[in-house]
Amino acid sequence: MAYETILSEKRGEVGLITLNRPDAMNALNSRLLSELLDAVGKMDADARIGAVVITGSQKAFAAGVDIKEMQDYEFADICMNDFVAGWDRFAATRKPVIAAVSGYALGGGCELAMMCDFIIAGESAKFGQPEITLGVMPGMGGTQRLARAIGKAKTMEMCLTGRLMDAAEAESSGLVARVVPDHEVVEEAMRAAEKIAGLSRPAVLMTKETVNRAFETTLAEGLRFERRAFQSMFALEDQKEGMAAFVEKRSPSFKNR
Ligand code: CAA
Repeated sequence: MAYETILSEKRGEVGLITLNRPDAMNALNSRLLSELLDAVGKMDADARIGAVVITGSQKAFAAGVDIKEMQDYEFADICMNDFVAGWDRFAATRKPVIAAVSGYALGGGCELAMMCDFIIAGESAKFGQPEITLGVMPGMGGTQRLARAIGKAKTMEMCLTGRLMDAAEAESSGLVARVVPDHEVVEEAMRAAEKIAGLSRPAVLMTKETVNRAFETTLAEGLRFERRAFQSMFALEDQKEGMAAFVEKRSPSFKNR
């Protein structure tokens, strides 16, 4: 598939996807969704890739779903087509995905960043769910993922008024893992992805799956899930190697990478 709306590349063991619709603030149209799913699906299936970074431009990570494309949609059509449901496939990526966000991450752009496992933000980053100002509401997880990330008060305020949040507030609210200078945002995300890609893949995948459980189940069930996942790691050669390397004061060489 030849990509028109994204750039996809491999840097060592990390996949880097750049949203690339500069004339439209990287608005998420249906072409971009299918290209992104194709690219991330291939990276998920590629045994040589251990983690993925997704980024946009200095101006915009993504300014939301493409308003010009969707403005004339009718309820019956988008209901039958299950409009925006394709994004669930992105959210189901098994390998860790890091969002490197500079500029606007609005509406679906903010929701896409929140589908990633964590966000590293540049100082210019601005997050928001302004759909209410268009006469609609978030539809790609904004009401749910934002509430889990930053709590009810700020989520209600942002979703009901469309107020944007800057990078410093996003960090203090728990929406982003770290804020770095804009020119370092992709490099910082790549460094984190390279670190992850050098670790035991089964341990990484199970850790991601288990942390995500925290958002889907009760504490008791989540703790049981975690305990079983932790115990199962003692069946991995990587556990023997990782612990032996610590004891022998050397770097581990994980087999499952
Ligand atoms: N869809 C389509 N086109 C968009 C777009 C979007 N979401 N966001 C920006 N663009 C386009 C603009 O129409 C403009 O195109 P033209 O040059 O052809 O007019 C171009 O990108 C540049 O945008 P601006 O001139 O507006 O740039 P700015 O610097 O003045 O403002 C902005 C930047 C604040 C991000 C502004 O573009 C904006 O508010 N965009 C819309 C944000 C928004 O409402 N997002 C939510 C979309 S709905 C959604 O995402 C639904 C969902 O949850 C499922």
